[in-house]
Amino acid sequence: MSTTLRDLPAWKSLESHYSEVKDRHLRDLFAEDPGRGERMTAEAAGLFLDYSKHRATHETLKRLVKLAEESDLRGRIDAMFRGDPINATEHRSVLHVALRAPKGQSIFVDGKDVVPDVHEVLDKMAGFTGRIRSGEWKGYTGKPIRNVVNIGIGGSDLGPVMAYEALRHYSDRGLTLRFVSNVDGTDFAEATRDLDPAETLFIVSSKTFTTLETMTNAQTARAWTLAALKDDASIARHFVAVSTNAEEVSKFGIDTANMFGFWDWVGGRYSMDAAIGLSTMIAVGPENYRAMLAGFHAMDEHYRTAPFEKNLPAILGLLTVWYTDFFGAETVAVLPYDQYLKRFPAYLQQLTMESNGKSETLDGKRVDYPTGPIYWGEPGTNGQHSFYQLIHQGTRLIPCDFIGFCRSLNPVGEHHDLLMSNVFAQAEALAFGKTAEQVKSEGTADWLVPHRTFEGNRPSNVILADRLTPEVLGALIALYEHSVFTQGTIWRINPFDQWGVELGKVLAKRIIPELESKDEPKLNHDSSTNALIRRYRQHKAR
Ligand code: F6P
Repeated sequence: MSTTLRDLPAWKSLESHYSEVKDRHLRDLFAEDPGRGERMTAEAAGLFLDYSKHRATHETLKRLVKLAEESDLRGRIDAMFRGDPINATEHRSVLHVALRAPKGQSIFVDGKDVVPDVHEVLDKMAGFTGRIRSGEWKGYTGKPIRNVVNIGIGGSDLGPVMAYEALRHYSDRGLTLRFVSNVDGTDFAEATRDLDPAETLFIVSSKTFTTLETMTNAQTARAWTLAALKDDASIARHFVAVSTNAEEVSKFGIDTANMFGFWDWVGGRYSMDAAIGLSTMIAVGPENYRAMLAGFHAMDEHYRTAPFEKNLPAILGLLTVWYTDFFGAETVAVLPYDQYLKRFPAYLQQLTMESNGKSETLDGKRVDYPTGPIYWGEPGTNGQHSFYQLIHQGTRLIPCDFIGFCRSLNPVGEHHDLLMSNVFAQAEALAFGKTAEQVKSEGTADWLVPHRTFEGNRPSNVILADRLTPEVLGALIALYEHSVFTQGTIWRINPFDQWGVELGKVLAKRIIPELESKDEPKLNHDSSTNALIRRYRQHKAR
C-alpha cells in the first residue's frame, strides 16, 4: 500500500470525530440514547458482548468499520483462511484456523490440503490420551502414569497451563498435571519434588525443539528419570514430544513414534490447539478437547463471515485501535470473573504483545502511530482489592474487558451472585462514576468531596457466557486471536513473527560461557554489563 494509515479517509474522519467525542461523557451518551445498552451488543459462538460502555457512538463504530474496510480487513481475513503466506517476514501461511477445521473441510498450503493431517494428529493424540487415562500405557516399571509434566515455554506452555486451569472442572482428578517452563531450576524442582518418576510422563513441547529453557529442563527431567529408573530404555516410556522438528526430537532420544507433530504454519502463541494441547487433552479427555475445538471453529466462522458491525473480534479489535491511537490509552485490562480463568491474562499477554508489539509496517517503514497496547489483568474480585483504585481514580485511561458467566461450575450458596454483582457494578461504576454533587448530598465534608468523587467515563467491555464450557473457552480464545489480527491489520504490521525476542537470546548465549568459565573471561560488553558479570562471578565463587 502506498498510502500510510494516516492518509486513509477513514482515519482522517476518525481524527475529526475524535475531537467531537473525546469530551462526551458516558452519562450523557446513555441519557441521550437509552436504548444503547441493548443495541450496542453482539453475540456469537456462545459469547455475548456488551460494548455500550465505550466512549463511542454509533457513528464511531461506522467510521471504525470504514477503517477496517479501507484497510482491507476482509481481504486479509480471506487470505489468512485461504492459507496465503501472510506471515511475510517468515514466508509462512498462518493457519491456526485449520487446527479446528472440521473433517471434510479443505484448506490448502502449497497445493496440499492440511485438514486431513490435522485430524490424523488429533486422532493420534486421542489414541495416546486413551492409553494414558485408562492406565494401559505403563511406565518402565509397569506402573500406570499418574503424573503428566508438560515442559515448554511461551506458546508451548502458556496455552496448556491456561487451558488446564480453565478446564480443571472437566479434568480427570486422578491425574496430576504440572507445567515446567522457567530455566530457573526452582521451577523443575518444585514441580517434581513430590512425584514418583515411575509414574511420571514428560511431554517435551517445543515447536523448534531448540529452545534453551525447554531443552535444559528436558535434559534435567531425563537425568531425574534416569536417576530413579536407571535404564536408558525407560526414557521411551516416560517421554513424548510435541514438535515440528523430528530430527531434534530423535537426537534427544525420544522415539519419533511418540512424537506429535505440527507445522510451521502454526505460530507458537497460536498453537495451544495444535498437538501442544496434548496435556490439555490428557487432562480433560478427547471429547472435551474436541468440544473446545468446536468453540474455536464457531468463532472462526463468525469472524470470517459476519459483517464487521456485528463481528465480535472485529469490534473488540477496532475499539482497541480507537483507544490506543486516538485516546492514547496504553494498556488493556482483562478481568475474568472466574477463578478457573486465573491464567487467562498471562496467556493473553503473549498472544497480544508478542503479536502486535511491533513498530515496523509490513513494508518495512516505521509506524507513526502507537501499536500493540499492554495487556494485563487478574481475576475478579481479587483485582478489585489491589489495582482497581487506579482504574477508577487514577490519571490513566484503561479500557477493561470484564468476562463473566451466568452459571457457576461450583454453585456454592450465594457466591456466584456476589461475584457477578461485582462485574456489573464495576463496569457501571467505571462508566458513570459518582459526581461531586452526589457525594456532597450524602453529607460528605467539603474537603473530602474531591477524594470521594468518581469522574467515570472509563470504558469497558462486558463479555458474558452461560457457563465456562470447553466450547466457550475455545470461542473466547479465538475471539482474542482474531481481535489481535484485526488490530495488526489496521496497524499494517505482521502479528505473526517475533524477531524482537532474538537479540536477548543471542546475547545470553554469548554470556553463558562468561559466567561458567573457570578462568576470568575477557569481557567485551559495555561497562555496566561487564561490571554485573564480574560481580556475579565474585559472589557465585563465595
Ligand atoms: O521466544 C519466543 C518464542 O519463540 C515464542 O514465540 C514461542 O512460543 C516460544 O519461544 C517457545 O518456542 P518453542 O515452542 O519453539 O520452544
